[in-house]
Amino acid sequence: MEWVDKILKDIKNLEHLKDLEHLRLSIFGKKGFLTKEFSNLKNISDEARKKVAKDLNDIKQKLESSLLEAREKLEKMELDNKIKSQKIDVSLFSPDLSPNYGHPINITFDRIIDYFVGMDFAIRYGPLVEDDFHNFEALNLPKFHPARDMQDTFYFNDGKLLRTHTSPVQIRTMEEGNLPIRIISPGAVFRRDYDMTHSPMFHQVEGLVVDKDRDVNFAHLKFILEDFLKYMFGDVKIRFRSSFFPFTEPSAEVDISCIFCKGSGCRVCSNTGWLEVLGCGVVADNVFEASGLKNVSGYAFGMGVERFAMLLYGVNDLRSFFETDLRLLEQF
Ligand code: DAH
Repeated sequence: MEWVDKILKDIKNLEHLKDLEHLRLSIFGKKGFLTKEFSNLKNISDEARKKVAKDLNDIKQKLESSLLEAREKLEKMELDNKIKSQKIDVSLFSPDLSPNYGHPINITFDRIIDYFVGMDFAIRYGPLVEDDFHNFEALNLPKFHPARDMQDTFYFNDGKLLRTHTSPVQIRTMEEGNLPIRIISPGAVFRRDYDMTHSPMFHQVEGLVVDKDRDVNFAHLKFILEDFLKYMFGDVKIRFRSSFFPFTEPSAEVDISCIFCKGSGCRVCSNTGWLEVLGCGVVADNVFEASGLKNVSGYAFGMGVERFAMLLYGVNDLRSFFETDLRLLEQF
């Protein structure tokens, strides 16, 4: 039949899926001509109907399979075109992405570590869950020593504890017995404390230098800490104030002239003109003894990283370091 061949040709020549749908409806839709032909069947004589119905069904099948073929071809064509036209350029820079902000605590850690690594100090880490011996006993803080109260401790049921300072790494390093020792130990420490200037988890950097005989003394300590504090804070005055730590004798606390008021007195330095920034001293004899070292001398120091970061960046609530607020991080 001529008209069937024409439609079959039309189907073959289709270029768009939506034209195919049009054509399909014009054949099979409610008002489609094949639908009409089928409903006309009832108007023809019984003898003729059988043959016409068979012809119509043949045509229907031909058209259906031709439409299916055309649909598959057109779908593949449209997908190919889509893939060709919609390239994703993965190297394209998106201005909406946040850059990788450094956390002020990490930035401060890096600065401290940079200085000491430059001075040939090695980096040592110790466990966060410590035993009483390394955290207290060996550091000359026997049970019931009042200085233990300064470091309100988190205990586990088995007597282990969360280390209250990084000083136990001193003991662990000295226990290995290799001289000379020149290490810093950065890391997290834990105390039961929470206010504007205290958080239950905070960070310290411990330092320890030990060598044979009387080779290490307070003058070495004084030199390195003065140099370090100038590296951190620029042109500040530095003073060593006599103090007490159980693990050092003599001990000192180190102050810098207030970086906010330049020493004339302000709220941050409580009108003293000075800011306390670290503790230090000459390692006490019984600390060496507890660690198994004889005929050695050494110095140690410890500092709080949050304290440094607060001063360096003018942050006055330490807790804001741990609130993971992007608006804080975006400033670094
Ligand atoms: N461990 C002390 C603290 O947490 C800090 C410290 C002071 C460490 C003096 C030292 C030191 O090594 O010599 O407060």
